Amino acid sequence: MDHEEARTRREARLRTPNDLGENAMKDLSGALTTLLADSYALYLKTKNFHWHMSGPHFRDYHLLLDEQADQVFTITDPIAERVRKLGGTTLRSIGHIARLQRLKDNDADYVTPLDMLAELREDNKELARSMRETHSLCDEHGDVATASLLEVWIDEAERRAWFLFEASRPGDSPGR
Ligand SMILES: [Fe+2]
Repeated sequence: MDHEEARTRREARLRTPNDLGENAMKDLSGALTTLLADSYALYLKTKNFHWHMSGPHFRDYHLLLDEQADQVFTITDPIAERVRKLGGTTLRSIGHIARLQRLKDNDADYVTPLDMLAELREDNKELARSMRETHSLCDEHGDVATASLLEVWIDEAERRAWFLFEASRPGDSPGR
């Protein structure tokens, strides 16, 4: 048995039976695994900013980011399991995440609170955009189950972006 044949046999063991077809498996597994890498990147960045928050709004922002990180983390397992239900394989390591993630890490020593909120707001908008793209792919392949999960997750990402936008607005000063 040559190397290629051995690889094909190993892959066949992980090929969950599914009637959506080979193309759907390949296209959707790829898109969902990249989305999964972005979700882990966003999860860790949100935690990073939760841990390194500072300033007069510390408590509000610290708690907001904790809630948001939990919400992002919650979607990771269903994304990965969706790939397996389609018959594909998904992330295997932190290194794999780093190779696929489109959202950028932020390793800066200090980030101002408003810059943290603005960066997360943009990342969440970007995540929602990628999810919409993946939703179109689901439509092409008739994968209504992944599409319906994505609809909820897009709404959640837009809600996070909304909260981050409102929390970072300059306050009104009535009477001035
Ligand atoms: Fe915490």
